[in-house]
Formats: sequence, C-alpha cells, structure tokens
Amino acid sequence: MTGDTAAVTGATGFLGTHLCESLRSEGWEVRGLSRPGSDRGGREDLEWYVGDLFDRDVLESLVDGADAVFHLAGASLWSADPGTVHRVNRDGTATLLEACAATDAGRVVFTSTSGTRRPNGGDPVADETDVAEPIGAYQASKARAEALVDRYAERTGDAVTVHPTSIFGPGDRNFTAQLLAMGLEPTMPAYLPGGLSVVGVDDVVAGIVAAHERGERGEHYILGGENLTYDRAVSRIADALGGTPARLPVSAAAIRAAGPVAELVDATTGRRVFPFDRRMARLATRRLFYTSRKAHEELGYTYRPLEAHLPEAAAWYRDEVR
Ligand SMILES: NC(=O)c1ccc[n+]([C@@H]2O[C@H](COP(=O)([O-])OP(=O)(O)OC[C@H]3O[C@@H](n4cnc5c(N)ncnc54)[C@H](OP(=O)(O)O)[C@@H]3O)[C@@H](O)[C@H]2O)c1
Repeated sequence: MTGDTAAVTGATGFLGTHLCESLRSEGWEVRGLSRPGSDRGGREDLEWYVGDLFDRDVLESLVDGADAVFHLAGASLWSADPGTVHRVNRDGTATLLEACAATDAGRVVFTSTSGTRRPNGGDPVADETDVAEPIGAYQASKARAEALVDRYAERTGDAVTVHPTSIFGPGDRNFTAQLLAMGLEPTMPAYLPGGLSVVGVDDVVAGIVAAHERGERGEHYILGGENLTYDRAVSRIADALGGTPARLPVSAAAIRAAGPVAELVDATTGRRVFPFDRRMARLATRRLFYTSRKAHEELGYTYRPLEAHLPEAAAWYRDEVR
C-alpha cells in the first residue's frame, strides 16, 4: 500500500480505467482528468479534475503535488480527424508538460505507442532503437510528443516513455472486440494478413507502474506481448473459447488496394471517411513484431499468453458487445 498520489490523464478511457482501478487497489490516491462529458464509469473513489488537455489551470491543479503523472490521454484516427489527433497527442502533451514544469509534479510516465518503432533491416522483431518514419497522423503526433517528453526529461523534470503494443482486454470496443469477433463469430468470415504483438491490459498497467518505479529517466520501454500472426491469434481464440474462427484471410492485395480508395473518398468528400491512407494500408499487411526485453531486464516487466486474458475479455464481450 503506497499512499502516494497519482495524477492520471485519460482516466476515463480503456487503459486509464484499468490503471486507475489497479492504482486504487494498491493504495494510491488517484486524481483523474475528465472532460465535462466523459463517462466516469461511476467511480467515486477517484478525485476528478474536470477539463481537457488544453486547460492549463486544471492541469496544474491535477499534477501539483502528485508523486506520479500518468499521461494516457490521446486521440486516434478511429475517433478523431488528423488535425484533432495532432492537437490532442502533440499539443496536449506540450500543455501537460508545461503544467508539470510550473508546479511540483513527480515523474511523468508518458504512454506512447509501439507504432513509432518498426522492424527494419534483417531483424523481424523491433526494439526501442528501431525508430520508424511515422505513417499517418497518429504515429506522427505520438513521435512529436515523445520528442517533447525526451526534451523535458533532459532539461526540466523527470519523465519516461512506455510503448504498449496492441492492448487486449475488457472495455475496448476497438481492437479487442474486433479480434474476439474474428475468433468467435461465424458471421465474421475474414481475418487480416500480417501479424502483431498482443498484450493484456493488466500487463500493460503493471508495466506503466513499473516504469514509474524503476524506469531510467528519459528512457523508452516497449510493453509488448506475444507476437502472433492474425491467423494464429484468431485460431487460438477459437480453440480456447469454442468459437468459429474466421476462415478466409483478407488478401494483402485487397488491403493495399483499399488505401488509395480511402484517399480518393477523402479527397472527393473533403473529409476523412476511412482512418487510413495507402501507406497505412500497406503497413496493416506486415508482421509488426516487438521485443520487450529491455522492459523485462530493467523494469521486471512480464507478459502472459493470450489465453490468460481471454476469460475476462470474452465475458465482457458477451455481456456488452454481442
Ligand atoms: N489501446 C491500445 O491498443 C493502445 C496501444 C498503444 C498505445 N495506446 C495509447 O494508450 C493511451 C490510452 O489508450 P486507450 O485505448 O485507453 O484510448 P481511449 O479508450 O480512446 O481513451 C482515451 C482517453 O483520452 C481522453 N482524451 C481524449 N482527448 C482528450 C482531450 N482533448 N482532453 C482530455 N482528455 C482527452 C479520453 O477522454 P474521454 O473519455 O472524454 O473521451 C479518454 O479518457 C492513448 O494515449 C493511446 O494512444 C493505446
């Protein structure tokens, strides 16, 4: 039981909800940032600070005196246009760091994404040093935010960055719901080519807290899980849960072809309809595998296999999504 105080941005999101629950169970006092209209999930055991990432005064009150600042708030292309994604991820991080610099704030743990790293050259598995040219507004905005956090750690205060891979767990209506649907639903006939690193939400939460406790100032840590082709992930879900797996792969060519179509629709309608362009479409067909060796060695980070996360995620899916 720590009795320490944590300030959490993104406390109302998928990952933030799990983090706050874990921090509370470990005895932390938790301050959560919430926008006026956010769904706070009925959590009365958090102290809520109401405002958004551009509300400097609210951010200063949120972080002042906190032993740890867990910065999770972010926007993705599934829920926001590219301009908003840049504003929230890059400018929002800048405002938060300014608030930390102006107050008595403890270590900042910034949650970026593994997407700013990518396997390159001969090695099929990426580590923290494999910095990739960003593809799309999400990766670009996260890369910019990382640079701001690095500079803050170098010149101003204490900060570390974590890079979760694809997070799997109850409460996530995007990636988790889609992967479960591919493993469970006979009506979902297709799975994607390529592969990814799937990590349980509880493992990411433990990694974030470990980065606060044991991370090296200014360092970056990939928090990944099992590296799986979609094919393998989908059949393991079906085997474990008795589902009917998606049988037909969507061909890589079809996905690559969808990129230019999405661009054309966006250009024609003058607004963003699909969250990817041709470069992002090409990326979706690759095997994006990662190693968490550095986090394991320096933070004591471990992850469990996909099957360990299935019962809880599947129960949530059956109750809330189906
Ligand atoms: N999920 C993944 O697989 C994954 C993988 C790698 C990295 N990440 C990163 O992990 C973090 C959390 O992801 P998630 O999956 O939990 O996302 P999420 O469920 O969409 O949650 C995003 C959170 O950010 C808040 N937020 C968005 N715009 C804001 C603004 N302008 N001001 C204040 N708060 C704002 C949201 O508030 P509202 O509740 O009001 O919308 C919500 O609490 C993100 O930074 C994401 O990039 C996620």
